Amino acid sequence: MKRVAIITASDSGYKGEREDKSAPAIEEAVQKENYAVVKKLLLPDDKDMLAKAMQEIADKGEADLILTTGGTGFAPRDVMPEATLAIAEKIVPGIPEAMRAYSMQFTKRAMLSRAVACIRKKTLIINMPGSPKAVRECLEYIISELNHGLEILLEEANNCARK
Ligand code: MTE
Repeated sequence: MKRVAIITASDSGYKGEREDKSAPAIEEAVQKENYAVVKKLLLPDDKDMLAKAMQEIADKGEADLILTTGGTGFAPRDVMPEATLAIAEKIVPGIPEAMRAYSMQFTKRAMLSRAVACIRKKTLIINMPGSPKAVRECLEYIISELNHGLEILLEEANNCARK
C-alpha cells in the first residue's frame, strides 16, 4: 500500500475560521485507490512552514506521495508552488500540465493554477488547487497513472523504456 501525506495551505483554516473540505476530498479519492493516508497537516500560507513540512516528510521517508491543496493561485499569500520548488530535487512538469489541460473543460480558470510537482528523495509531491471540487477533478484524471510513477520511483517496477 502506497502512503500519502496531505498538506492543506490555508490561513483561515489554520486559524480555525474555515473548515478544510479539500483534505477530506483528497482522502476519499486516494482511499478508493488503496492508498493509506498516513499524515494530514493544515498549515498557514507560509512558504517556510510549508517547505519544512514537505522536506521532513520526504527526508524521513514518511510518505511516498505528498498531495497539497491550496495556495496555487495569484493571491499575495499563495506560495505553495514556491515552497515546493524550494525543496525540489527533480521537477515533474507533466502532472500539473495534465491537470491544467483536463481541468480546462470544467473552468478556464484552471489556467490560473500555478501548481507544480516534484520529486524529493523517494517522495513525489503534487500541488493541487484549493477547492474540494478542483481536487476531485484533478485527482480523477491523474490518479490512475500515479501508481506506475511511484513504482518506478520506489524501484518496484522497471523503467518503461527497458520493456
Ligand atoms: N481546477 C479545477 N479542476 N477545477 C477548478 O474549479 N479552479 C481554478 C484553478 N484550478 C479550478 C481549478 C481557480 S478558480 C483558481 S484561482 C486556481 O485553480 C488556483 O486555486 P488555489 O489558489 O485555490 O490553489
